[in-house]
Amino acid sequence: MSITATPAWQALTAHAAKMRPRHLSDLFAADRDRFARFSVDADGLLFDYSKQLIDSETVALLAALADAADVRGWARRMFAGEAINRSENRAALHIALRHREESLLMHAGGEDVMPKIRATQARMRHFCDSVRGGGLRGYSGEPIRAVVNIGIGGSDLGPRMATVALDAYAHPGLNVHYVSNLDAADLAPRLERLDPRTTLFIVTSKTFTTLETLCNARSARDWLLAAAGDAGDAAMARQFVAVTANPAEALLFGIAADRLFEFWDWVGGRFSLWSAVGLPLALAIGMDAFEAMLAGAHAMDNHFRDAPTERNVPLLMALIGIWNINFLAAQSLSISPYSQSLRYLPDYLQQLDMESNGKALRPDGLPVGASTAPVLWGGAGSNTQHAYFQMLHQGGTLIPSDFIAFVESDFPLPGHHEKLLANCFAQAEALAFGNDHADPLRTCPGNQPSSMILLQRLDPYNLGRLLAAYEHKVCAQAAIWGINPFDQWGVELGKKLAARLLPAVEEADRTIETDSSTAGLLRWYHQHKA
Ligand code: F6P
Repeated sequence: MSITATPAWQALTAHAAKMRPRHLSDLFAADRDRFARFSVDADGLLFDYSKQLIDSETVALLAALADAADVRGWARRMFAGEAINRSENRAALHIALRHREESLLMHAGGEDVMPKIRATQARMRHFCDSVRGGGLRGYSGEPIRAVVNIGIGGSDLGPRMATVALDAYAHPGLNVHYVSNLDAADLAPRLERLDPRTTLFIVTSKTFTTLETLCNARSARDWLLAAAGDAGDAAMARQFVAVTANPAEALLFGIAADRLFEFWDWVGGRFSLWSAVGLPLALAIGMDAFEAMLAGAHAMDNHFRDAPTERNVPLLMALIGIWNINFLAAQSLSISPYSQSLRYLPDYLQQLDMESNGKALRPDGLPVGASTAPVLWGGAGSNTQHAYFQMLHQGGTLIPSDFIAFVESDFPLPGHHEKLLANCFAQAEALAFGNDHADPLRTCPGNQPSSMILLQRLDPYNLGRLLAAYEHKVCAQAAIWGINPFDQWGVELGKKLAARLLPAVEEADRTIETDSSTAGLLRWYHQHKA
């Protein structure tokens, strides 16, 4: 049965009719303890959801919805390694990658996966220590000074975001670059500035068949071999690494066996940062810091598993999102980290949320019958105040926001951080309560909901907690909508059409049967091609 047919859903529909006319100003005026009532301090992670358009009855009805969807049972099955990814008949056991207790086993398909996870982590540590300590030498005997990760989607967004986020912890003598785009403007300028003698390439691809990644990897290999000349074999053996679930393809590409780092089919691409996909991050910050990030994520796993609904941060994030999307008709979610180091967080969360839950059908092929993933977007505050906040304040469209901020600055300068925090808190206040102004053009109506996540500092442990909270939020929402967050069949069509069009782009006289727009585009392109 679709969740929309349940009494819990219908009770929320009725409740929404009552809540929609309310204003946050009135809700705060009516309850002096609103902040205390609608905030959770989870071991130094403050989650303040008091500026959401809810009351105690809303929270109770949302908790009942989570029970009706058996979110906890769904989570138990995921944690137990069941084939919860139904369309691919796979487990989704990314939590095993950050599992810290030796005692508990983690099974996928009946196999305890912990030994191979530990073995891979040991190899990652040894490799990182060698590169960071100057032990690993390139074909000319020079130490490695630059790393280029070549990957896209989940093989890029997580490590890229985390490497930037944790720049304060980075090795000063090792520059880690990320190349993802098929557009050569991503790779070419990088190669122009790099020294082939001291550059290490990591080809990250779960399938090792992704067009963009293989095109970039081949160009990088050509560049390295052209520079290495007779030392080409040494260059490939030392300076190319693969992170993949398809080692056979990586070996065929020319990756040396001892430069292969595996991850497995029960690790979804957008949930893979915690695996060897995090190798470029571990090279940047060191394996100790990488494992601290794992520990933070593990702590959030335990919190999600054990905390009661009213104190369960990821579950509350999920339920508030469902309330805003399905009962207040919000269509997007703005992510606003007041942290320049977290500027790539919206990009990462876009894939995590929209590629996981951007679906209208359940695994049985029946429609969910309600909206699912929000259009997720955002940027780093305070920049965003000078970009799109005008629309949030006076655009008239309901756009919930997630604010994220830290008590301590990761790059302190006198007089900066206090101003940043004042602006962060002020924006949430202005969005919630607006103002009364004689001039309608200067009036901000307020009533824009937001949540605030506050942490002590942006360190590996807290980044791990934050990201795991969003992972569990996305999965809990999928459990309620009854969709599979771990497959992505929608991205296959475009790839197939591109392969069909490529010959007609490469050769003017190659005509193919297509629509008049595509045919017109191809014609115009060849007419203007130099
Ligand atoms: O976007 C589709 C997708 O399959 C993502 O799910 C994945 O993270 C990305 O492409 C890259 O895939 P791979 O890691 O296999 O190269």
